[in-house]
Amino acid sequence: MFDQSTLKDKVVFIAGGTSGINLGIAKGMAAVGAKIAVLGRNSDKALAAAQEITESVKSINGHSAIALTADVRDPEQVENALQSCVAQLGKIDCLISGAAGNFPAPALGISPKGFKTVIDIDLLGTYNVFHLGFNHINKGASLIAITAPQAVTVMPFQVHVCAAKAGINMMIKCLAVEWGASGITVNGISPGPINGTEGAERLAPTPEAKAAMSAKIASKRFGETKDIADAAIYLASDMGRYINGSIMTVDGGTELGDASEDCLKIPLR
Ligand code: NAP
Ligand code: COA
Repeated sequence: MFDQSTLKDKVVFIAGGTSGINLGIAKGMAAVGAKIAVLGRNSDKALAAAQEITESVKSINGHSAIALTADVRDPEQVENALQSCVAQLGKIDCLISGAAGNFPAPALGISPKGFKTVIDIDLLGTYNVFHLGFNHINKGASLIAITAPQAVTVMPFQVHVCAAKAGINMMIKCLAVEWGASGITVNGISPGPINGTEGAERLAPTPEAKAAMSAKIASKRFGETKDIADAAIYLASDMGRYINGSIMTVDGGTELGDASEDCLKIPLR
């Protein structure tokens, strides 16, 4: 069980923490004692998210969450945001890279610029956050990248996301090897489709599409933001201290592939 001491006074920087899954992680971590900085491109959205986090835990956590604005594709903006976090909250104990972009489209409908856009936000953005963040973390820090089942399981109309998230999975392992001796852990969390989030809405925009997608998942349903928040808290806490270079799948079996009735009804000899 997590409690107020689980991440007490730990400084958490969450790139892409202003909505969806990552905002869920931010709120979950604030509820177990952390000091939170959330970052996005839109400053009003970031301020609203910081306010929402602070309000959600005001009776149990004395800290106010802070809002940072940067585009993760721009190293200078990321560096400024990291410095602002350290100046306001202190050196970082948990650095999360979760900013991402997605639009489902057939490969022939994705221009080179469209492909580059997703690679730049997801893959280069994660490199920027971790590479620059290295100089702003405490010994023993936990680095977490938010990846996706598309890193290992092919999904049609997702060539850009599959390529970007596969790259993130390898980046996690490379950095774990290079930085492990510094007492740092580098891990990933791979969520399945999560209810009420932008990413899931883009992939399954209608009730019919959602039902069809759920039918293919071993657990037959979408997950909740709390499922991912709990995994992140575990990795960032003392309980996760010996987990390094791993990708924690929290996806109801999405990554395993098609578990639909049709697929399971293939006649056996
Ligand atoms: P979301 O609500 O759209 O959140 C995206 C976040 O990233 C927002 O804070 C957004 O803020 C920020 N962002 C986007 N582009 C950015 C940029 N260039 N620079 C800085 N910040 C940027 O997303 P979500 O659906 O919850 O997904 C969150 C993460 O989980 C992503 O890494 C996604 O790939 C992964 N994931 C999601 C699902 C799902 O079901 N939703 C499943 C598997 C994996 P601004 O718009 O203000 O920039
Ligand atoms: N199909 C094909 N190409 C598309 C597209 C679509 N549905 N949507 C965007 N693109 C292309 C654009 O056409 C453009 O390329 P072009 O100039 O050659 O036509 C390229 O992608 C960049 O688009 P732009 O809107 O300028 O990029 P941006 O940096 O402002 O926004 C996105 C990035 C496109 C990923 C945008 O959807 C976004 O900001 N997403 C963040 C939220 C999100 O995706 N959440 C889910 C996370 S899993």
